[in-house]
Amino acid sequence: MKAVVYVDPFKVAVRDVEDPKILHPNDAIVKITTTCICGSDLHMYEGRTAAQPGIVFGHENMGIVSEIGSGVSKLKVGDRVVMPFNVACGHCRNCESGYSAFCTEVNPGFAGGAYGYVAMGPYPGGQAQYLRVPWADFNALRLPAGTEHEADFALLADIFPTGWHGVSLSGFQPGESIAVFGAGPVGLMSAYSAILRGASEVYSVDHVPERLDKALSIGAIPVNFDQADPVDQILQMRHGNMVDRAVDAVGYQAVEKGHEVPNTVLSAMVRVVRATGGLGVPGLYVPSDPGGVDVHAKEGYLMFPVGKFFEKGLSMGTGQCNVKHYNRYLRDMIIGQRAKPSFVVSHEIPIDEAPVAYEKFDKRIEGYTKVLIHPNV
Ligand SMILES: NC(=O)c1ccc[n+]([C@@H]2O[C@H](COP(=O)([O-])OP(=O)(O)OC[C@H]3O[C@@H](n4cnc5c(N)ncnc54)[C@H](O)[C@@H]3O)[C@@H](O)[C@H]2O)c1
Ligand SMILES: [Zn+2]
Ligand SMILES: [Zn+2]
Repeated sequence: MKAVVYVDPFKVAVRDVEDPKILHPNDAIVKITTTCICGSDLHMYEGRTAAQPGIVFGHENMGIVSEIGSGVSKLKVGDRVVMPFNVACGHCRNCESGYSAFCTEVNPGFAGGAYGYVAMGPYPGGQAQYLRVPWADFNALRLPAGTEHEADFALLADIFPTGWHGVSLSGFQPGESIAVFGAGPVGLMSAYSAILRGASEVYSVDHVPERLDKALSIGAIPVNFDQADPVDQILQMRHGNMVDRAVDAVGYQAVEKGHEVPNTVLSAMVRVVRATGGLGVPGLYVPSDPGGVDVHAKEGYLMFPVGKFFEKGLSMGTGQCNVKHYNRYLRDMIIGQRAKPSFVVSHEIPIDEAPVAYEKFDKRIEGYTKVLIHPNV
């Protein structure tokens, strides 16, 4: 089958790889209808992780069940499903408590597994024609048959739940104001989730014009951080009042004035949030970064204004999204026409165009905001 394979920094290729097989009675094989490129893939693509050449990318996967193991009891061949990016067992302590992003069974020595991701276990990605789904009854969410809402449902694998999770991590309550740093796919989903959840004001900070336009289109207030300090801009618009919550949907590759400044968003959030407010951090930070800006950053140590953070009594939530905790409800909001997250989708392509799409999405040019790959067309 065809798959998107990591070759070298800034290079992926579409190669022929072996078809996945059932390796355990609880496995299913899914024929992929839609799989997405994620900002998280870019960290590996740019050589900013320990990812080795040969890894098949793709953790945002949806398709039709084509084969099931003898232990699979709920799923049937022909079911239309979307998989959380997390691979989880469903029965460890963390899974039982709803923290499926921190499953202790799927990736020995580590809490959490994912498809097609460095350090996240032996699970090839789904930017390919077929995907093996372990613990399939737990890891696959069934969808209505047919092709309706394909792009919306594909976003249930990661960014819609992750954006929603970022808002939850901040401690957000309806009626509050929130500043979302990053208007990439995750940031746009956080801004959209905050709006769906009754925010009074949503600020969306980025510097990519097409992304700020999308933020504006859903009713967020765009803030371009290239024009002036984003915290100053928000405080000015609010007559000096801070916001209740902030979300970091950028992570460790944040930029400021054209340079990477990994702590810039964390520091800005401490400044912009009112005393006793909250910070949600779905943006990725890593304990090992070969391309880190200094010796500390290479080991995941960043300067953080802990004094102000403490003085203001702020709280912070971090980590990978427990997609399973949200995806059923968000699916039902899509079916019920209450949510249409696919407004972020900018490109839908066959798999052969993936290398070009990676390049353009990585450069954040030509409106490449969210790319969906259809590997079997
Ligand atoms: N926690 C999770 O489960 C989870 C899941 C998916 C993605 N992520 C992470 O979320 C982050 C965002 O993902 P994405 O797909 O939206 O990626 P993306 O790279 O497309 O978006 C990041 C955006 O941040 C902007 N940005 C850069 N510096 C900034 C700054 N100083 N202030 C404001 N904006 C700035 C960029 O212009 C870009 O538009 C990544 O770190 C990704 O790894 C986490
Ligand atoms: Zn993703
Ligand atoms: Zn588990």
